[in-house]
Amino acid sequence: MCGGPRLTGEVAVEGAKNSALKLMAASLMIPGSTRLTNVPQISDVDVMAEVLVRLGARVVRSDHELHIDASTLTSHEAPYELVAKMRASTAVLGPLLARLGVARVALPGGCNIGSRKIDMHIHGLETLGVEMELEHGYIAARVPESGLTGAHVTLDFPSVGATENLLMAAVLARGTTVIENAAREPEIGDLAHFLVAAGARVDGIGTSVVTVEGVERLEPVEHRVIGDRIEAGTFLVAGALTGGPVTVTGFGSSHLDIVLRKLADMGCDLEVGEDRVTVRRDGPLRAVDIQTLPYPGFPTDMQAQFMALLAIADGGAIITENVFENRFMFAGELARMGADIRIEGHHALVKGVKALSGAPVRSTDLRGGAALVLAGLVAQGETVVGDIEHIDRGYERFVEKLSSLGASVSRRANVSDFDGIC
Ligand code: UD1
Repeated sequence: MCGGPRLTGEVAVEGAKNSALKLMAASLMIPGSTRLTNVPQISDVDVMAEVLVRLGARVVRSDHELHIDASTLTSHEAPYELVAKMRASTAVLGPLLARLGVARVALPGGCNIGSRKIDMHIHGLETLGVEMELEHGYIAARVPESGLTGAHVTLDFPSVGATENLLMAAVLARGTTVIENAAREPEIGDLAHFLVAAGARVDGIGTSVVTVEGVERLEPVEHRVIGDRIEAGTFLVAGALTGGPVTVTGFGSSHLDIVLRKLADMGCDLEVGEDRVTVRRDGPLRAVDIQTLPYPGFPTDMQAQFMALLAIADGGAIITENVFENRFMFAGELARMGADIRIEGHHALVKGVKALSGAPVRSTDLRGGAALVLAGLVAQGETVVGDIEHIDRGYERFVEKLSSLGASVSRRANVSDFDGIC
């Protein structure tokens, strides 16, 4: 990949990864055929499809559509080999308990952006009556004879995954469940709307207090996955880095509110429509501080891309990562490209430099990998990004989309690298 030209043009984002994965898990609760559209073609979706198939569901895929027939489930186990590949596989815990009354799900263990515990999932489900045991690296969970019972749960932290697992279990529980301090990410709203369309009764969608009245069963539905705000934000950063104008379409611009505000503060001109945003920059980038927080705060999934922007901004900035421990792994790789970054605990002090220089670097995780590709767009000379299987987890046709905007980027055949020829 070679740094240089301004990217210009229009690019459409796919359906949201973090929504599609949970909608797939939720379809296990429906004894019939669910049709999901706008499903991204990314490797995380492949893994979740494999999880569903192992549980006995039939999954048929055509283009961006998934038909999931969960009329009969034949297993209640999400095996370690799949959970280790993708932590979001733990999203089947709530649905399996609601549908079958029993689940055996591998503990995810550590991952490259921190230990990512699931204690809040466990505690919340226990409050609904689930009996849990940890054995041989697995959570063995069982619903008592009396079934799942609605209850009041206050989360210690608005965890996305815990909110979703509880929401899904509560939908088929007896009585009322109230989830306080619930996470409010738009993808949780998408999941809740899907469940409501299938017959669930959910109030407070998009707020931090979600109330669920349990129902007997859910009915098959068709649902379109919302647009991926993080993919959108990534392409907007590509426009901001190179100057643009770049127009990104296919997502709710209100879901990126704070990201757009930060881009404006950094000196970008933005044209904002309901489902599209155009970014353009003619002057220098100005440094601004960033701290990640649960939605509607600044998304941790945009932190790495903004570090790439701040690396060439005028002045110094502090990035504070409040959601995940250890999410600055890629910063060392960015420093290999000439960025001036000092990490102190969960703070990164980024001093803008005049220019980055192309280098061989390695993706450490999904968003970190994408950020290195973005940095390569403006680095002098060639950048080769390795371990791009991380990027394939969450970005569909990333190289093709960047190329369509004029980037000099290519994918090495049969090698997990992005590179380019100057
Ligand atoms: C989801 C998203 C991820 C995003 C994150 C935060 C998916 C597939 N992934 O991840 O892209 O970056 O939300 O917006 O949707 N925690 C605990 N105990 C728990 C649960 C979480 O301590 O039981 C901690 C985690 O270790 C982490 C923080 O809470 O430090 C946030 O985690 P959570 O909101 O649950 O994120 P995920 O659902 O894993």
